[in-house]
Amino acid sequence: MAFHTKPGIVVLTGAGISAESGIRTFRASDGLWEEHRVEDVASPEGFDRDPDLVWRFYKERYTQALSVKPNAAHHALVKLERAFPSNFYLITQNVDGLHARAGQESLIEMHGRLRTCLCTNCKLRIDMNTVDLSPSVPRCPKCGGFLRPDIVWFGEIPYELARIESLLQDCVLFLVIGTSGVVYPAAGFLMTAKYFGAKTICVNPDKVPNRDLFDQYYQDTAANTLPGLVDHLIELGLDAIIQGSI
Ligand code: OAD
Ligand code: ZN
Repeated sequence: MAFHTKPGIVVLTGAGISAESGIRTFRASDGLWEEHRVEDVASPEGFDRDPDLVWRFYKERYTQALSVKPNAAHHALVKLERAFPSNFYLITQNVDGLHARAGQESLIEMHGRLRTCLCTNCKLRIDMNTVDLSPSVPRCPKCGGFLRPDIVWFGEIPYELARIESLLQDCVLFLVIGTSGVVYPAAGFLMTAKYFGAKTICVNPDKVPNRDLFDQYYQDTAANTLPGLVDHLIELGLDAIIQGSI
């Protein structure tokens, strides 16, 4: 499939952007992967072995995601999209749905989403809020097959990779927010964007391993940084961003 894109401001977000909404990241010392074995709750083999456990984990995360709100960083990215509606693209590794709830339109949820699930039998994709979640493994309302969370697990292929590749090739500014940069293929997007000439900006309170690959580094939280950074980009204007004068 061929995609035709325009010079793009492409944003990649990870768990860190939702930290200030009250959702724990994965790899912090109190993170989700400290309490759960990734292979048990985030792999197709784990689901085959113990679907009850996997569903317990995702039902809890779904309920928690609904109980929190988008923060200043999510809202700032919506403002950036509205300023440059034809040139803005947001790729997220997050499944919490906070970007969508903030009103983000050009959104690629490459690791799936908590608010939908999939039938393992007839492949139907349905909203969680229409599913009877009381059985330990919920059933498809159409065919009665077992449902699974609409999450891209380890060993599975992230969604929309061809479109993402095309966006990265036409990217003039690549903004990476709140991701540790260790999970591929998302971790490789930075190199692709750089290779095709994009300016690169990182927002992360910690020093990430690929720090040296960024042109600019805001070592602060997403909610502290994004409102000011977005205003600065809007003030600069699209032409200056395309010319790389940031
Ligand atoms: P990680 O938990 O690996 O990394 C979160 C990053 O956010 C770290 O670099 C933190 O320093 C940073 N951070 C923490 N608080 C922040 C804040 N307030 N503002 C900005 N940054 C902050 O999470 P991800 O990089 O998103 O995949 O993890 C990538 C993937 O690994 C996830 O999508 C998930 C996980 O396994 C699947 O489940 C398939
Ligand atoms: Zn079905």
